[in-house]
Amino acid sequence: MDPSTTAPSETLLPAERCPDLASLDELRLRGLSEFFDPFLGAFARDTLRTGGEVWVSRSGDSVDGLYLYLESERQGAVFTHSRPIAESFSARHSGSSTYSDFPLGTRSELFRIYEGTATGPDPSHRFRHPVRAGGDADRLEVLGLMRGVHGVVDDAWFTSIARENEVCFVVEGDRELAGVGWASISSGVGRLHSLSVRPRYRRTGVGTDLWHARMRWAAGSGAGPVVTEISEHNSGSRAIAEAGGMRWVGQIYRSFGR
Ligand SMILES: CC(C)(COP(=O)(O)OP(=O)(O)OC[C@H]1O[C@@H](n2cnc3c(N)ncnc32)[C@H](O)[C@@H]1OP(=O)(O)O)[C@@H](O)C(=O)NCCC(=O)NCCS
Repeated sequence: MDPSTTAPSETLLPAERCPDLASLDELRLRGLSEFFDPFLGAFARDTLRTGGEVWVSRSGDSVDGLYLYLESERQGAVFTHSRPIAESFSARHSGSSTYSDFPLGTRSELFRIYEGTATGPDPSHRFRHPVRAGGDADRLEVLGLMRGVHGVVDDAWFTSIARENEVCFVVEGDRELAGVGWASISSGVGRLHSLSVRPRYRRTGVGTDLWHARMRWAAGSGAGPVVTEISEHNSGSRAIAEAGGMRWVGQIYRSFGR
């Protein structure tokens, strides 16, 4: 850790910036998040890989807060059970948004955490679209789809589509990709994220097929529980997760306005 990167303002709680993968490997990132603990190492590595900031706060020998921030998306995520730590980290970048266990700032959006069990192929599901695992040859198409659906997307996330312990499933449309969605696994826990369908293909079962393909992959990769976070305003994704038997087990918030 670089001591020169401790808190720049007395209003912030002390924290250290983690400069590289080697210093990250020394950290024990456990007990910071009810649902995302298994993924914190991967989140932090991805943040460094994409040029973002990784900060930790400590209580004695243990890490009691982790903050990941990406300037290109003006977005951060705090993992801690302490509201003061979450507030202090989120105050580091005014005007950005922050995901955390707490509603912070002046406005928050609730994301439901859904959990299901990876049980392998569901014989009652009939795929309506061909779904396949994407590869690096799909990189530009995937990036184009993500930008079309979400607006600003940092292409640093997409230097490689195939990643360790993570898969990107795609559905082909009419000379373009119709939809994409990722699944990852860590310590026997699966996570589904970033399900995205081009508007012209919506309500034709693309999202549902991608959900089933990812749950199959998670089961085949050894996952038991599978989690996914979905905005309370996203009735489409919620309907897909609920139809698949996932249950709402908790929540996090994306906060704005600091
Ligand atoms: C949410 C999203 C992935 C749904 O994909 P989709 O391919 O349209 O979903 P499906 O066709 O499989 O829909 C299955 C069911 O979900 C429900 N559903 C889907 N979209 C819905 C919507 N906008 N409002 C209400 N219910 C919806 C319906 O019950 C639907 O079945 P039906 O069409 O027979 O009524 C897509 O709208 C999308 O990409 N949205 C923008 C990005 C996004 O929000 N991603 C989620 C991040 S977690």
